[in-house]
Amino acid sequence: MTVRPAARAAELREQLKQHDYRYYVLDEPSIPDAEYDRLMAELRALEAAHPDLVTPDSPTQRVSGTPSAAFGEVVHQVPMLSLDNAFSEEDLAAFDRRIHERLEVQGDLDYVAEPKLDGLAIAVIYRAGRLEQAATRGDGVTGEDVTANVRTVRSVPHRLRGRVPPLIEARGEVFMPLKGFERMNARARERGEKVFVNPRNAAAGSLRQLDPRVSAARPLDAFFYGLGVLDGAPLPKGQAELLDWLRALGLPVSPDTRAVRGVAGCLSYYREMAARRRSLPYQIDGVVYKLESRADQERLGFVSRAPRWAIAHKFPAEEALTVVRDIEFNVGRTGALTPIARLEPVFVGGVTVSNVTLHNIDEVHRKDVRVGDTVVVRRAGDVIPELVSVILDKRPMKAGRRTEPQSRQVELPARCPVCDSLVLRVEGEAVARCTGGFTCRAQRQEALRHFASRRALDIEGLGDKVVEQLVEHELVRSPADLYSLTAEQLAGLERMGEKSAANLVAAIDRSKDTTLPRLLYALGIREVGEATALALARHFGTLEALMKAGEEEIQQVEDVGPVVAAQVAAFFASVDHTNVIKALRKKGVKWPEVARAPAGAGAALAGRTFVLTGALGSMTREEAEEALTARGAKVSGSVSKKTSYVVAGADPGSKLARARELGIPVLDEEGLRALLRGG
Ligand code: IVH
Repeated sequence: MTVRPAARAAELREQLKQHDYRYYVLDEPSIPDAEYDRLMAELRALEAAHPDLVTPDSPTQRVSGTPSAAFGEVVHQVPMLSLDNAFSEEDLAAFDRRIHERLEVQGDLDYVAEPKLDGLAIAVIYRAGRLEQAATRGDGVTGEDVTANVRTVRSVPHRLRGRVPPLIEARGEVFMPLKGFERMNARARERGEKVFVNPRNAAAGSLRQLDPRVSAARPLDAFFYGLGVLDGAPLPKGQAELLDWLRALGLPVSPDTRAVRGVAGCLSYYREMAARRRSLPYQIDGVVYKLESRADQERLGFVSRAPRWAIAHKFPAEEALTVVRDIEFNVGRTGALTPIARLEPVFVGGVTVSNVTLHNIDEVHRKDVRVGDTVVVRRAGDVIPELVSVILDKRPMKAGRRTEPQSRQVELPARCPVCDSLVLRVEGEAVARCTGGFTCRAQRQEALRHFASRRALDIEGLGDKVVEQLVEHELVRSPADLYSLTAEQLAGLERMGEKSAANLVAAIDRSKDTTLPRLLYALGIREVGEATALALARHFGTLEALMKAGEEEIQQVEDVGPVVAAQVAAFFASVDHTNVIKALRKKGVKWPEVARAPAGAGAALAGRTFVLTGALGSMTREEAEEALTARGAKVSGSVSKKTSYVVAGADPGSKLARARELGIPVLDEEGLRALLRGG
């Protein structure tokens, strides 16, 4: 579809005006800066190609900034200019080349490199060393009088120091340091007040507060980097000298400015600042290079609104707009369903992003992300890309309707997109999981690994690497398939000799003689650990009895609540699972009936959690763990507030210290034995 240039230009102008209004008047920007820049660049390109389309009120014809009528106006005696941008090394090289050509010089040029602070430009006039007036940049010619507010910025001196000129206008940037920004937003959130989207908007909003007392409470800071009018003192010979002088007058100057030589020097500064960007206490969106020599600056002069002797080298934009093509659910190795937004590929933070995780269904609903939505995507540094927000204004609406969106809210699928098993979500938990276990391709590997693990069917030699290959080559789909594997098949796997293949076949064969608690644990039913498996086995006696039981009956088992009962019932409701059990039996896997015990018996330590540290003298750690779990206790690897006891043997590790810190009872070996005896 081609849009007529005139129509497109009008559309762009209207959009830019809307954004300007939201940005400058409401302090509520609705799109990322980079998107604004893109709209502006498109309009500029259109107007360059069709000069007759330029209107006097086009946003391209003025420098941004609409002075608010609420503040007094200040006309800048020396206009406040803007900077051209370089987005690549080529742009920078071209800038340097143009200077060489204009000045007709050769060899590396001297520059001063500075951080490009992400705040807002101000001009502060000192007469006889006293702060007289402070103004925003406004449209570059006329700004707002923000003297009362700037006076509240701690780092801006009310009086200059040393030998002061009769009149000096210092120019710089007011910004909000990150710490202050976060603190301020946290407080605003607590009170249910408006939070600022970023430190720059917070700085702008704070400086343009009508009540200076409000401004004073905002954590603003400033750095100076330039000069407006100057009276009664010689102009510094270059940018480095100017910065030194400003410092000497008591004005804050960034500690990160540096004299550099040639394009190579500029680039190494750029890389260094890009690397430090995340650890700086304030936000920067790039660096600025300024030709050192003032005489050369004057010879070069300006083009439209920007000097020819300086350029901003921007870091890749960290936020961009794109469209959500689809929202899919990914099934992980543990069965967790993770919603993923498939995006129209977009270049952001230096890479192309086409997928972002939405973490869980609550997050999808909180952000109200839908298919077809235009969204803000952010990738800062090496951080994983994230979907920041939805631009609701851009949500596609039904034809002829203003308020009825085409899209519907995303729902959690009732069945697994990979294996069609039921999806269950434990109440109070964010994650939803597929109940498929080893019948689900996505979970097969994890499920088999679990099935073979020591406390399950204990198949020695069936390690992660082997399981991985068995699943990959589709030699094993369910645990029952393990019992058909031949030594020849196994010997064909990577890093598997004939001897170990034969050993593994023997180990698989040995595992056929098992127990009901081990089998129940091995099946990998969600929420069913060793203690629960034991309790279920003792309560029902046989697998058949458990499989026939309804949720309510399962809840009769000691320590089994509705959450566990639902998982167990859902597991056995699946035909795939009952087929696996049948197949296991057919292959000769046996588990004798368990003597049914009245509730509570044998589970003397149910509900307790133990952590073992250090070596025990009379038993191995495994034996201790087995003895504990057989009595219904849980054994965990790390100490937390939930730990009931820490058992400390010889040479205990940091777990003991942690237990003392948390005031958790510590048992020695004798204490453990007494507890196991029931004494
Ligand atoms: S010099 C004639 N130096 O960037 C030169 N500007 O994109 C005018 N900025 O309006 C500006 N850090 O608000 C300069 N070290 C720095 C800067 C800087 C941030 C801002 C300033 C300016 C904008 C231009």
